[in-house]
Amino acid sequence: MGGRDRDGSISFSTRTSRVMWSRTGLMADGVTHVSEAKEDEKVEDGMWEETFKSHTDSKPNGPSSISLDFSLPGVENVYGIPEHADSLKLKATDGGDPYRLFNLDVFQYEVFNPMALYGAIPVMLSHSAQRTMGIFWLNAAETWVDISSNTAGKTVFGQMLDYVQGSSETPQTDVRWISESGIIDVFIMLGPTPTDVFSQYASLTGTQAFPPLSALAYHQCRWNYNDQEDVAAVDQGFDDHDIPYDFIWLDIEHTDGKRYFTWDPHKFPQPKDMLQGLLDKRRKMVTIVDPHIKVDSSYKIHNEIRSKGFYVKSKDGGDYEGWCWPGNSGYPDFTNPEMRAWWASMFAYDQYEGSMENMYTWNDMNEPSVFNGPEVTMHKDALHGNWENRDLHNLYGFYVQRATAEGLIERSGGVERPFVLARAFFAGSQRYGAVWTGDNAAEWDHLKISIPMCLSLGLVGVSFCGADVGGFFKSPSTELLVRWYQTGAYQPFFRAHAHLDTPRREPWLFGPENTALIREAVRQRYALLPYWYQLFYHAHHSGQPVMRPLWVEYPQDTATFSMDDQFLLGRDLLVHPVTEEGARGVTAYLPGKGEVWFDVHTFQKHNGAQNLYIPVTISSIPVFQRGGSIIPRKARVRRSSSCMEHDPYTLFVALSPKRFAQGELYIDDGHTFNFDKQKQFIHRRFSFANNALSSRNLAPGSQFTTFSWIEKIVILGASKPSKATLKTPDGKESLLEFEFDTSMSVLTLRKPGVNAGLDWTVVLQ
Ligand code: GLC
Repeated sequence: MGGRDRDGSISFSTRTSRVMWSRTGLMADGVTHVSEAKEDEKVEDGMWEETFKSHTDSKPNGPSSISLDFSLPGVENVYGIPEHADSLKLKATDGGDPYRLFNLDVFQYEVFNPMALYGAIPVMLSHSAQRTMGIFWLNAAETWVDISSNTAGKTVFGQMLDYVQGSSETPQTDVRWISESGIIDVFIMLGPTPTDVFSQYASLTGTQAFPPLSALAYHQCRWNYNDQEDVAAVDQGFDDHDIPYDFIWLDIEHTDGKRYFTWDPHKFPQPKDMLQGLLDKRRKMVTIVDPHIKVDSSYKIHNEIRSKGFYVKSKDGGDYEGWCWPGNSGYPDFTNPEMRAWWASMFAYDQYEGSMENMYTWNDMNEPSVFNGPEVTMHKDALHGNWENRDLHNLYGFYVQRATAEGLIERSGGVERPFVLARAFFAGSQRYGAVWTGDNAAEWDHLKISIPMCLSLGLVGVSFCGADVGGFFKSPSTELLVRWYQTGAYQPFFRAHAHLDTPRREPWLFGPENTALIREAVRQRYALLPYWYQLFYHAHHSGQPVMRPLWVEYPQDTATFSMDDQFLLGRDLLVHPVTEEGARGVTAYLPGKGEVWFDVHTFQKHNGAQNLYIPVTISSIPVFQRGGSIIPRKARVRRSSSCMEHDPYTLFVALSPKRFAQGELYIDDGHTFNFDKQKQFIHRRFSFANNALSSRNLAPGSQFTTFSWIEKIVILGASKPSKATLKTPDGKESLLEFEFDTSMSVLTLRKPGVNAGLDWTVVLQ
């Protein structure tokens, strides 16, 4: 054991002795029975071969496992290790199941549960008011994480009492990592701030892929849109109801008999016509391409994979086969770089017939899901080259998404940014696209859990996360659906989705009042896209999460350490979704002593740090802008984000108590790599100080230009000026019209009219 410093430094002890798992128990009931460190190995049942229901794990290499204990003195709060449908702050697991990391296709998952789900990121963050650190346990085998804490279960009052009575011991959290195979390969990220941990982790696994701007807009999905006419009707429905959307999705039924890369010839006879129709409206499509391949000698994809020897092999050397959507299926070995290169080449426009540049990809079932496999996944003794699936199971989905993303890049000659959604993931998956939280249900608890689930992913690099809006299984009440849209509009990946058996739920099917509510939620998302884009630019650049727990920005405020019901977008927007049925109000915590927060709907100013009761109606959820920030929005919401490309900006300047504010604006072409390869972007810094608001260049040398201009400036917490003068570098000065709302202290400057890419200053006198 190492030191026991109060500053939260880590000490750890290896268990080089073998830790034996009672594997039969583990597999049979999903519960661990860890029996420790037996030097004198006895042969126990299941050590050299194990059976689970009708499955046999041949264990050709016998039993193995590795484990390491970490002591975190001074630490009471640990986070991360997604994916679990659990609270943001991880719980002590003594007395119950450890958190399990093993990518699985789970049917109807339960919330507040440490059970394994679709993805696994073996990264834990520890946090105390003094320091933030991270542990990255680089192992892709089945892994369990056991957490114990000497303060677990004690109330804050109990801890204070201990302290007053002098009986308190230093808080400490102990964490035991156990993996079934592999080596101990651990990275400790020393922080000491959350920002430091994010960049340290990004230096190991990379940053969030910078998505096309449109992918940050609204996505309309269901299993399934039935045929081309259905797609056209839904598309038209959005126009008729004046609701913007960017992507319509096609699930598995669009294919010819679940043969991916094909189209059902009756339902989708002219895919290019359909895609062109969408393109004409500057909209896009996603089609599903799952990684299980129908075993069918008349299917080109299968024949090629088989003839090239690219399938995963079973223990006896033949192609591994399992049951999935198409029936009997093979599983390409995505760990093989040659297989990935071949797969990527299948997205070329001349290979994937009927595809066009406005068509992107969804990789589902990439745990991989094997309906008739043990725990609905691949046998552990299946072989990827010389490696057993046991050794790399949690990496399979990562490689599927990677190969697909590379395919989308290649089909455009390296010009266009890809968009790929995947269900299974591992550390580093952020480099290849977005993830979602799988098959949730239309229940209030599932809406609630979407917040900590996406926050946990953001802490370990994956910013582009969302949950099926409305819930996948079952049918939401209208109120739940509306609340889900309102929440989803403020989460990174914003897609409505529903199970095949559920009644249709396009936004206009619930009466005009609810259509209006959903329209408003979606429009709020579109207006805020410039800010979302800027946050994703930063996530890409430096690994900072887009959706953040409050403690990331207020690391010393213990009141924020276990919050599951509200979050920050970047630093400057605080969102408190309404996740209770029939709610008439919520209590939001506004952090930051001496700071102020402005309600974005009413512009009312509130002080931090306080718990604030906010009455709510069904019309919106509470969102606050931090005093001291400047947020760009686009007020003219159109059919799709692309249609808004050249639209003007409105700047919302929220003044701090010291009458200061800062913000940014990031603009590029929205879809290519030119921002990176040719530094083609606009990056501005806005500052308000000494009664003047100015815009200055953060991207010297960039030649990128925009048509967009600054249409309006709204200053919250302002006092009334006698005049407002716009100054530009050519020496021109002009007076701006303005309005002042005395009751809310809001100053609105009309039509500065200056180009968004240029230098300017507005002086208030
Ligand atoms: C899985 C996915 C779900 C999809 C369905 C059919 O259950 O999680 O989103 O609709 O498969 O492809």
